[in-house]
Amino acid sequence: MASLSSEELNRIRDSVNIVDVVASYINLEKKGKNYFGICPFHDDHTPSMSVSEEKQIFTCFVCGASGNVFTFIKDYENISFVEAVNKVANFSGIKLSQTINVVKKYDKEYKAYDLAIKYYKNNLKSKEGSKALEYLKSRNISEDIIEEFDIGVSFLESHLSKLLINKKFDEDMLVNIGLVNKKEGIYDIFRNRIMFPIHNNFGDPIGFSARVYNGEVDTKYINTRETYIFKKGEVLFNFHRASVHAKKSGYLILCEGQMDAIRIYSSGIKNVCATMGTALTNYHINLIKKLNVRVILNMDSDNAGIKAALQNGELLRNNNIDVSILKLNDAKDPDEYIIKFGKEAYEDSLKHAISLFDFKLNYLKLNKDLSKADELTEYINDVINELNKYNDDVLKSITINKISEEYNIDKNILLNKLIKPVNPIKEEVTINVSKKKSNQNIKAIEEVLYYMMNNVQYANIFVKELNYVPEQKYLDIEKDIQAYIILNNTINMADFITYEMNKGKDGIIKEIINNHNNDVEMNIEEFMEYIKIIRKWINTSKINSLKVELKTVNDINRKKEIADIIARIKRESEEYGK
Ligand code: CTP
Ligand code: MN
Repeated sequence: MASLSSEELNRIRDSVNIVDVVASYINLEKKGKNYFGICPFHDDHTPSMSVSEEKQIFTCFVCGASGNVFTFIKDYENISFVEAVNKVANFSGIKLSQTINVVKKYDKEYKAYDLAIKYYKNNLKSKEGSKALEYLKSRNISEDIIEEFDIGVSFLESHLSKLLINKKFDEDMLVNIGLVNKKEGIYDIFRNRIMFPIHNNFGDPIGFSARVYNGEVDTKYINTRETYIFKKGEVLFNFHRASVHAKKSGYLILCEGQMDAIRIYSSGIKNVCATMGTALTNYHINLIKKLNVRVILNMDSDNAGIKAALQNGELLRNNNIDVSILKLNDAKDPDEYIIKFGKEAYEDSLKHAISLFDFKLNYLKLNKDLSKADELTEYINDVINELNKYNDDVLKSITINKISEEYNIDKNILLNKLIKPVNPIKEEVTINVSKKKSNQNIKAIEEVLYYMMNNVQYANIFVKELNYVPEQKYLDIEKDIQAYIILNNTINMADFITYEMNKGKDGIIKEIINNHNNDVEMNIEEFMEYIKIIRKWINTSKINSLKVELKTVNDINRKKEIADIIARIKRESEEYGK
């Protein structure tokens, strides 16, 4: 949206009242100065989201979602920033100076895919498509599901290529996005397969997963090859539909196959997506992390599925995502399970998902005869090894008790095998003290920035008094605040959020808004108190590094100089402290 100026963006934002816009999505109730509603970004039961009419921002004190009207629409509808701006403009009937219809960067590519989806879906309705339709019916895929997931079929002849070329799509582009092949003529890549469209997380179509259906001896699935719009490591099947539902229910189900995701979704459990048989990547992890929800891993029941559950589970846990594992009995995958036992049984099984650790314990038992001494020993050692990876004394203690009782083994022997059977109490206390102190400093910075984002006067005082914060991540945003003021001569939080969003840097603002205590009115005394804390912090760290230098230099003059500087800083600090 480089084409819209920041004045225009601010004018659009200012043309609506955030309270009206949010109220068109969720129920709001006025309490005191602010409005409150059930937060749509997490599994909320009491109204935790507040909307400030005065500041034109929203914030949820439970899940940390916050921002201005653009942020709300963008996150609620899972659309891009540009689209959100457009919606707000539409809301108040503002005509944008440029790019009224938002043109996406890969608009042509998506259009080609849209057409391909329509074409393949239409094939299903033709006479030639009857076999494919029969196949889908035999797998309990109803008309409704076909409609919702745009399932289609490709034939042997290269009709799609001709259609797309006729519609004047660029040949090379079609080759590059993996729809057609060009070698002594032009022909379709996908032939004689059931076609499942795949979308990116904004819901744009970017590829296909194509399945054999005629009983051919051929690779079961062929997917679109890696292209500039289809990046295997970034795709999660059905994520664009599932994310809103995941936020609402507080968890996301992750399965392996698209057929599984389609089955679960169409039984009404819509917070589900599929890895499509590959391992989770860091991109996926970040995508999931943004949802701020639990994950239930529901991989296939075979060995490969168990390995995938362990590997993906480990990765999620290492990234602080709460993960549990659902292993289904008497069915090879969720699709088969639901067909065999029904959706109620599946829903019920979700309640019995177990922790990653318990899943591992079960896994370690697999194929072992624990009545034999050597196999039992191996098992116990494996469990202890596993426990040693965790930093959780409660878990350790519970597990040791459990296996000591279950297999009649002396508890002390087991405890001695732990690498760190320590009591970390002392350690924790010291950590807490220093943490508290640094929290106080961080809090001061965040509050000062909060004030600055709301009022030029505070920003001016900051420049005069400190003009520096001793923490890179905050220094960045502080520089942005100053730059914004120079550009606009004024500042308010809602517009500054737009400015940072445009730079893809609104993450820190969210933290700042969320950590701010909304009940406290802003006032100059409080602001100066925070300035004081930061100054003290800066001075203390200056003094500390000077003291280190004092110890290491030999030159007597320099030593004296340093001592003078230290004394001066101390003196000045005391003067300010009064
Ligand atoms: N897959 C793939 N290529 C293959 C096999 C599988 O890309 N040759 C992907 C597909 O996305 C598939 C997923 O891995 O959905 C899981 O594979 P599998 O469990 O074998 O397939 P199912 O989901 O059970 O598919 P179906 O029920 O249609 O047999
Ligand atoms: Mn299957």
